[in-house]
Amino acid sequence: MERRILLAGNWKMHKGPKEALSFLEDLDKALELEKTITEAIASKKIELALFPPFISIPTFCDFNHKMIKWGGQNAHWEEKGAFTGEVSIPMLLELGCSYVILGHSERRHIFGETDEMVSKKLTAALDHGLSPVLCVGETLDERNGGKALSVIRRQLLSALEGVDSTKAAQIVVAYEPVWAIGTGRTASDADAQEACNFVRGLFVERCGQNIASGIHVLYGGSVSPKNAAGLLRQPDIDGALIGGASLSVESYIGIIKEALSVL
Ligand code: PGA
Repeated sequence: MERRILLAGNWKMHKGPKEALSFLEDLDKALELEKTITEAIASKKIELALFPPFISIPTFCDFNHKMIKWGGQNAHWEEKGAFTGEVSIPMLLELGCSYVILGHSERRHIFGETDEMVSKKLTAALDHGLSPVLCVGETLDERNGGKALSVIRRQLLSALEGVDSTKAAQIVVAYEPVWAIGTGRTASDADAQEACNFVRGLFVERCGQNIASGIHVLYGGSVSPKNAAGLLRQPDIDGALIGGASLSVESYIGIIKEALSVL
């Protein structure tokens, strides 16, 4: 299968509509100067997707850059109702979203999202045809206690509970060790590969080899232009979920160039 590297930028609670617009204008200018990048995007070898705060999604929708996809950082599983502060999957689709991040560790650890909630969200996204970027990953204590792979297994299999194998092909998984997020401490290439290979193996068990080999497995946690090439060179790592380094055009472009170098 032809390799496609997905470079997903999770902006978290950064950039309102004005800043989002100036980022898009700057990114557009930068892409115009980088023919090798635009060719790789046109030939689907590289895919760019950014995840701004909800309030800045209309800016992406209006800008409608043909080379940049966008998505939500979270969504509720219900279509509508009395859920103050929540946003539904049909609402994201109405604003042209291609993806939604689900189960990010900040949602799990700061906002108390459970495996069961993540599973309901995943099922709802798949039912509506919106590709989920499902985040899994262990804490430092869990890793030091030798439990990293069992945590990944629990998070992934519980999210997939009740999911039809044919729909599972739309899922993107991001392996993000909690201790590597926003800390400047990245998993080693070998540890990241081991975890991403383990994720793919779980898909083989659950959905069969065909679906498993097409699933996109990303690594996330302090990805930067300095460490991206080593990570993206690993056979089971098909891209990155990038937090801090996706907030500046320069470092995002830097990571895209590293991705080009491993294609
Ligand atoms: P980071 O965030 O790249 O800033 O570590 C990654 C993420 O939380 O998705």
